[in-house]
Amino acid sequence: MKISDEIQAEVQRRRTFAIISHPDAGKTTMTEKLLLYGGAIRLAGTVKARKAKQYAVSDWMDIEKQRGISVTSSALNFDYNGYRINILDTPGHQDFSEDTYRTLVAADSAVMLIDGAKGVEAQTKKLFHVCRMRGIPIFTFVNKLDRACKNPLDLMAEIEETLGIKSYPMNWPIGIDGDFKGVFDRGQSRIELFESGGSHGQSIVASRSGSVNDPRFKELLGDHLYGRLCEDISLLDIAGDEFDMEKIRAGELTPVFFGSAMTNFGVSQFLEAFISMAPPPAERIHSEGIMSPWDSDFSGFVFKIQANMDPAHRDRLAFIRICSGKYEKGMEVTHERTGRKIRLSQAQQFMAQERTAAENAYAGDIVGVFDPGTFLIGDTICTGQKPFRYEGIPMFPAEHFAEVSARDSSKRKQFLKGIQQISEEGAIQVFKTPNLGIEMFTVGVAGILQLEVLEYRMKSEYNVDLFIRNLPYTLARWVIADNFTKEMLGFSEAVIVEDQYGRTVVLVKNQWTLNSIAGKNKDARFLDIAPPVS
Ligand code: G4P
Repeated sequence: MKISDEIQAEVQRRRTFAIISHPDAGKTTMTEKLLLYGGAIRLAGTVKARKAKQYAVSDWMDIEKQRGISVTSSALNFDYNGYRINILDTPGHQDFSEDTYRTLVAADSAVMLIDGAKGVEAQTKKLFHVCRMRGIPIFTFVNKLDRACKNPLDLMAEIEETLGIKSYPMNWPIGIDGDFKGVFDRGQSRIELFESGGSHGQSIVASRSGSVNDPRFKELLGDHLYGRLCEDISLLDIAGDEFDMEKIRAGELTPVFFGSAMTNFGVSQFLEAFISMAPPPAERIHSEGIMSPWDSDFSGFVFKIQANMDPAHRDRLAFIRICSGKYEKGMEVTHERTGRKIRLSQAQQFMAQERTAAENAYAGDIVGVFDPGTFLIGDTICTGQKPFRYEGIPMFPAEHFAEVSARDSSKRKQFLKGIQQISEEGAIQVFKTPNLGIEMFTVGVAGILQLEVLEYRMKSEYNVDLFIRNLPYTLARWVIADNFTKEMLGFSEAVIVEDQYGRTVVLVKNQWTLNSIAGKNKDARFLDIAPPVS
């Protein structure tokens, strides 16, 4: 392995992470505030301005402009205190898609954002499990403390019970009934009180801090809040889990922070602590061994393909997570799957409000390269003697299914082309169903909006009007069994299909049906992550 000091130093200062949360927990607000505190933007747009789209991080597709929500995920970078921060944005509304999962494969750590009044919600759970599977560190930010929240101790119990991870509060909120005043920093045994300022969270808030024993704070907080804080602190010290950096790094313990993204309370404290604790890019396993991020051989993999970044050019962009070495403009890499040499001349990077040409980038960074149809999700590109392949990106089951066909049968060619290209981007999973013929497919998506996106894109990009018939299934499982047949299902509301790679998949209406099928077929296995393609 060849290591250069330059690459090593650059990699060590990189922090690449994704924010996982349920819709409306405040991910957009938090991202914006991290950009604000990171100095990447001067004023955070108010939510109104954001909805009016003055703030345009990811509105590349018309459909999302119409709806005012994000259907794409993007990668933003900024420098802060000597660190290069890469935030991977994970789409999270009804537009929840496989991209959301895949993005997590490109991240080195995750920030789990929880609405303090709602606790752990469904989508957070799903994303958490993907992070857990990868063993990446997960940092928790309990948001919206400016409003009445659940009791923090109950929240921590909920995190442990529903997610199965232990938690360690790094700070403790002062005022949880809509009277949020500040936090107690446990590591430093200091109180930090925030001043609301009056800029509606647009600019950085002032704070004052000092020892918990400082009589000033008792006076400022009043007997009730101060007394409660003292009680909570002693309880935590006796009853809570121990701080253990190794467990945090292994994703077995989540450090918890309390704050409010909207009012900025606790955001800078979180950013500071996160940066000091989150890991830089680590080694990654590939088909020939293990790659160090410091290796001067360049390598990376495609985790996302985005069509229509610029509708005027109908371009397709492949997002590459760099895993080792340095990207230099114009460099030649091997595309492992085809063995072809490719010149990377126009890679792009993404700042707060724009994309710019990347001059160079290092392991941990995300670059977008123009894709004339060369890339598939999961492809590896690398330099060096022997090309290799990074471990595949797992395919997760879709949760919404529909039969699709072209309304006008003379558009068959465009229909097939569109379905193929959109499935290559990973936006939809395509299944072949016996007896359906080749003019009709079953498609599966992770979020219901993806079906609308499909319909819209087929019309605008391929000029095909789709006929879509929603199917009642909600679960898909890859089946490992000898010759699994329809008769073995025993349910009319279940169906056997074949995915793009010829693997058998069963689609069922609900968990109960799945359990019954599994009960009847004890020799078969039903996997919720696709097995390797044979
Ligand atoms: P998302 O990306 O996770 O879906 O959430 P987003 O940031 O869009 O926030 C969802 C809603 O929650 C927004 O309000 C936002 O202002 C609010 N929010 C975010 N952080 C906080 C916080 O710390 N405290 C409080 N009280 N609210 C917060 P909205 O009602 O959807 O929009 P608007 O009425 O504010 O325009």
